Amino acid sequence: MDKKAYRERMRRKKRQMMIRRYTRLAAYAAALVLVCVFVVRGIIIPIAHWVGGKEPGETVPVQAQTAEADPDAAIRQPLKGQGDLSKASEMTAGWHEDENGRWYQNADGTYFSSGLQDIDGVTYCFDDNGYIQTGWVTKGVKDLYFNDDGSYNPEMKRKMIALTYDDGPGEYTQTLLDCLEENNAHATFFMVGPNVQAYPDAPKRMLELGCELGNHTWDHYQLTTLTLDAAVKEVTDTDDALIEACGQASTVVRAPYGDYNQSIIDAVGKPFFMWSLDSLDWQYKDADLDYNEIMNGDLSDGTIILMHDIHEPSVQASLRIIPELVAQGYKLVTVSELAAAKGVTLQNASYTDFWDSTLASGSVAGYEGNTTEDTSGEDGTSEDGISDGSDSESDDYSDGTDDYSDGEDSYSDGSDGSGEDSYSDGEDGYSDSSDSESYSDGG
Ligand code: NI
Repeated sequence: MDKKAYRERMRRKKRQMMIRRYTRLAAYAAALVLVCVFVVRGIIIPIAHWVGGKEPGETVPVQAQTAEADPDAAIRQPLKGQGDLSKASEMTAGWHEDENGRWYQNADGTYFSSGLQDIDGVTYCFDDNGYIQTGWVTKGVKDLYFNDDGSYNPEMKRKMIALTYDDGPGEYTQTLLDCLEENNAHATFFMVGPNVQAYPDAPKRMLELGCELGNHTWDHYQLTTLTLDAAVKEVTDTDDALIEACGQASTVVRAPYGDYNQSIIDAVGKPFFMWSLDSLDWQYKDADLDYNEIMNGDLSDGTIILMHDIHEPSVQASLRIIPELVAQGYKLVTVSELAAAKGVTLQNASYTDFWDSTLASGSVAGYEGNTTEDTSGEDGTSEDGISDGSDSESDDYSDGTDDYSDGEDSYSDGSDGSGEDSYSDGEDGYSDSSDSESYSDGG
């Protein structure tokens, strides 16, 4: 072994020893850190807590009080401004105001947030940060109005309308969806299977926008001319196409030509929807005429409008109608949202509109007011006026909408409570052969 090789070997050995030494040092350092952590967490912090009068491991008690039965009810949050102790100590129970708005502190130091709360007989709505809200506030399926001082105003009722579009989707549907999105509006689309297959992105986007998927069968046949099994297959085939396109089946059905019977509804097992205002767009094919037909029509709270998104003029008319209705204060909702807002639990039945007069007639299946003997016993608490659907008859009467008394007369004979009434209404107001035209044009 020559000198060079020997030196090389020594150098390697030295390096090895150095590495070993550093490794050992690193291990010591790591052990020291662990010991420090243990001492601080296990001994010093508990002692500090004990000295400070707190239990070890205690965190800030964010015990957001669970709302009881009413999901819209406010919850109690721990004291506002908890971090700022000097400020908090000066705060007293009652109303407070800062640069963000007004909020209410309870005697126990909590404050209300995220819901409705009665204070001194007045209902307020608190946002997630505990400040009172004013103007229109959406609670569940309803919009409630709060005055500038934050008090709930039961006189203000946002009228609701359900726009429905049949026979699509089509090449103009995305334009319509753009408009709905811009206006924060919802609609219901009664679609035929082949068009779902042709435009699978449309139902996907409808769901994203909060629109409702409706089923308008596969072949657009008159269902009453088919066997029950064939009628059901018409619906399930389109549901399969919807599931394929967007992962969800339809929730509601519209029978082609408004032609159905109770056996078909029962066999299909979904709510069927007619309409109370026909735009006649399938006949006009003219955006101005479509527009006039709707804007001059009966736009009472609870109206269901029929249009067809396979026609370009219908979509062009909608681009004007939607923002205008919103500007007029309407809330544009799906048929199921409309039903829920009116206190109707949808059944396997047919629905034509959710006007106060129709609800009062007792002919709407699943309307909670149907089973109530007398809801006129007003106890004066605003709670009742708000809670989802329970402001049924008494409120609807007292709010004295113009169309109510008219509507009552026209519905007074339809009080036998069956779904057949709404059916015959819809059928009469509809010229069946023309829808066939409308469909074949689009198909
Ligand atoms: Ni149709």
